[in-house]
Amino acid sequence: MHPVKLSLVSAEISKSTVASAVTDALAAIAAAPDSGALKAVRTAHLGDASPLALLNAALKDLPNDQKAAAGKLVGEARGQVNGAYAARETQLVEAERAAQLAAEAVDVTAAPSHVRLGARHPLLLMQEEFCDAFVGMGWEIAEGPELESEWFNFDALNFDEDHPARAMQDTFFVEPADAHLVLRTHTSPVQVRALLGRELPVYVLAPGRVYRTDELDATHTPVFTQIEGLAIDKGLTMAHLRGTLEHAARLMFGEGAKIRLRPNYFPFTEPSAELDVWHPTFAGGARWIEWGGCGMVNANVLRAAGIDPDEYQGFAFGMGVERTLMFRNQVHDMHDMVEGDVRFSQQFGMVI
Ligand code: DAH
Repeated sequence: MHPVKLSLVSAEISKSTVASAVTDALAAIAAAPDSGALKAVRTAHLGDASPLALLNAALKDLPNDQKAAAGKLVGEARGQVNGAYAARETQLVEAERAAQLAAEAVDVTAAPSHVRLGARHPLLLMQEEFCDAFVGMGWEIAEGPELESEWFNFDALNFDEDHPARAMQDTFFVEPADAHLVLRTHTSPVQVRALLGRELPVYVLAPGRVYRTDELDATHTPVFTQIEGLAIDKGLTMAHLRGTLEHAARLMFGEGAKIRLRPNYFPFTEPSAELDVWHPTFAGGARWIEWGGCGMVNANVLRAAGIDPDEYQGFAFGMGVERTLMFRNQVHDMHDMVEGDVRFSQQFGMVI
């Protein structure tokens, strides 16, 4: 230990010097706002260089007959300041601990506000709406692969090898060429899979992703979603097709919905029709909007699946989910549907 150099070599010990040292010390202790500041007060008023320490050190230089009285005076003064210090320290430390506990309090029952809720994608919600409508009529949901064999995507659906209809759909062919695989251009191949894999009669709805070599722009996307419907039973007619689609239209668009069929051509249906839907609340007014394609399943498709067309007949239809969402919910840009921005999805709500 180094000897402490005292600046005040011989302090004058009197009642007033002791009292003033005590007053200063007590004032500083009372004024310390926190335990950190109080430590500095300790150094200044109780440390080795403090006035009271110097007075204490000066005791030894007093004449012997004054030592006892002066010693008592200084000792009591130091005791008083030490006591005040200890009391203030307890008070400050307790207050600080209480403040810290309050600040760090965790309400385990509170809902976490910083977690942003996601939202299910409106395309998925709409697919589920379609499915619910048909499951409600007793239909089943069918699936097929997105990487599809050319035979299911075209041949079995009555697209001839060099029939121009094969060029109607801009196809992604998948290498190697002799594997004859494509990214399915429509959900219609699920019709054939359903006919090959299920017992008759068949009533299936097949939602799923399809692919075409389109650029992404406001109205096109190379990956989109279709809903395919297929009903095969004894004695089904175009009237069943009409009734089924009108019922579905009312569920999807509201009670006032109407449908109409216009003649068209698809290789897998005969006769074939374009399907339009009308509703009084459509943006732009009550009007007809092209919704999809449909028709009576071509006998060649039934034969490709080993079904006798004289015994069983049926109808099929297909529509685009993105397109439906666009005109029903006024989505004007396809980008919104593919970019995955939760602010877009949230507008459609968190329907489970
Ligand atoms: N597959 C057709 C397309 O992608 C849509 C379609 C039309 C499906 C008529 C059908 C149908 O089942 O009967 O353009």
